[in-house]
Amino acid sequence: MKFCASIPVKITLLGEHAVVYGEPAIASTIPRTIEMCIDVLEDKRIEVVSKGVYVELNRASFDRTSSRVSYSLNTDMLRKIFSYIVSGIELCEEFLSISKRGYSITIDSDLPVGVGLGTSAAISVGIVALCLTVNGYSPDEQGFLENVARLAWSTEKKVQGAASPMDTFTITFGGLRYIEPRAPLAHEIVSPTELPVLIGYTPKRMTTAELVARVRELISRYSDVGEFVIKGIGQLVQIARRCIEKGDLECLGVCMNANHSLLSLLNIVAPETDIIISTLRHAGALGAKMSGAGGGGAFIALARSFDELQNLARLVKNLGGEVVATRLGSEGIRIFRIA
Ligand code: PMV
Repeated sequence: MKFCASIPVKITLLGEHAVVYGEPAIASTIPRTIEMCIDVLEDKRIEVVSKGVYVELNRASFDRTSSRVSYSLNTDMLRKIFSYIVSGIELCEEFLSISKRGYSITIDSDLPVGVGLGTSAAISVGIVALCLTVNGYSPDEQGFLENVARLAWSTEKKVQGAASPMDTFTITFGGLRYIEPRAPLAHEIVSPTELPVLIGYTPKRMTTAELVARVRELISRYSDVGEFVIKGIGQLVQIARRCIEKGDLECLGVCMNANHSLLSLLNIVAPETDIIISTLRHAGALGAKMSGAGGGGAFIALARSFDELQNLARLVKNLGGEVVATRLGSEGIRIFRIA
């Protein structure tokens, strides 16, 4: 029996980096998805065919009996993707207390990878959910999504060494979420008005792991300043949550701008991101900030109304950025059975 999943990627509205130190964050899925499918194989191989993730088409295969791996293209990025798949499957099998099986997995995506949209978290969520489903754990059963979120978070930690639950929890449950990383919980935030946002990116020059390490080093060297910044970001997140719940866009914009300034103190904002952000603010955006780990990559701007987004999108393109979405998403992972 074959199962497929549609998995959204996400954007961080406020709270990145501080969430690694236990502060809350606000993130949301966006209406762009990765499609993944799974089928059980007769032999104990994990075979992955990916379209559009890093390259046009790639195949990787892992023989679980001999531990031999083969790639049609051997790059760091592809090896990393494959390790999310293998780790996710191992954690799923451990959770279900079942023995190793063979699986055929396909991944189809037209989204940029490694720019702060949570693509690796989406792959972790997708593989865990599909592995659980194909092994008999129905997505309709109580606690299914909670288990997916936790196992996907463990997958990220296993592959990356460290990760907050922000991306995996947001992608699993979907919509706009207030993340409490210590619990961990992802509370839904209900806004009386839809948020007119623009989400874009420029190429990212450093990896998330490098940027998280840079912040850790800075914080350990200047602990007082570090604590001021991290706690300050946490407070802005709490204020921003109240602004969203009241539908006060101006107040949310101020919080986003202040959050960006605090992130600048951590020395992770790329100059090209700063140029785009200040241009968008001058053009009328209520708030604009980098999003994710930094060093280039994703950014988010909040406009006064949906009508103003087109103008902002034009400016982003003129400055060499790409636009990926002009609204937030409401859905998390969706799983369906193929005949
Ligand atoms: O750029 P991304 O999507 O990898 O975002 C990383 C967000 C951090 O807060 C910096 C790290 C984390 O694990 O939450």
